[in-house]
Amino acid sequence: MTAKVLHGSELGHTESIAEDVADALGGVEAKSLDDVKPADLTGDHLYLVFCSSYGDGELPNTALDFAESLEGGARLDGVRFALFGFGDTSYTTFGDGPRTLRSLMLAAGAVEAADLIIHDVSTSKSAEDEAIAWAEKLVAAGSQPAS
Ligand SMILES: Cc1cc2nc3c(=O)[nH]c(=O)nc-3n(C[C@H](O)[C@H](O)[C@H](O)COP(=O)(O)O)c2cc1C
Repeated sequence: MTAKVLHGSELGHTESIAEDVADALGGVEAKSLDDVKPADLTGDHLYLVFCSSYGDGELPNTALDFAESLEGGARLDGVRFALFGFGDTSYTTFGDGPRTLRSLMLAAGAVEAADLIIHDVSTSKSAEDEAIAWAEKLVAAGSQPAS
């Protein structure tokens, strides 16, 4: 199962980290959620989804249409994903953007391959290092033969 990277971003931080992850995985495709529709996602891939929080705990602008499609009933049956979110603990709505996206994807029938992570951008921990380590671990686990 090959990995694909998807990102929802408002000001570009999440997009930049997602692209770094795709490069680190060896030229994996990275796309904005704005450039895909739920029907484009298939069961042949593991989707590594990166998403920030914006406004008052809302989704970033490039995730809005994708989320709206899911709210409108689009399905993701058989789709496997894992979500790496971004937020800032100085907001009471910490991480609510990725939480919303996760809920919508699960309600649409997608299956989560790993627990949701939310990176707190207010800490000095490197988001890039954490995201790359997370993605490499998931891809390695996905390439193991089923036991
Ligand atoms: C105007 C603004 C609103 C934000 N609102 C939230 C929020 O409600 N909850 C949260 O956890 N983080 C919030 N953040 C933090 C962002 O999620 C964080 O800075 C993230 O790295 C932005 O990534 P992006 O540039 O890809 O959108 C906000 C940041 C900005 C600039």
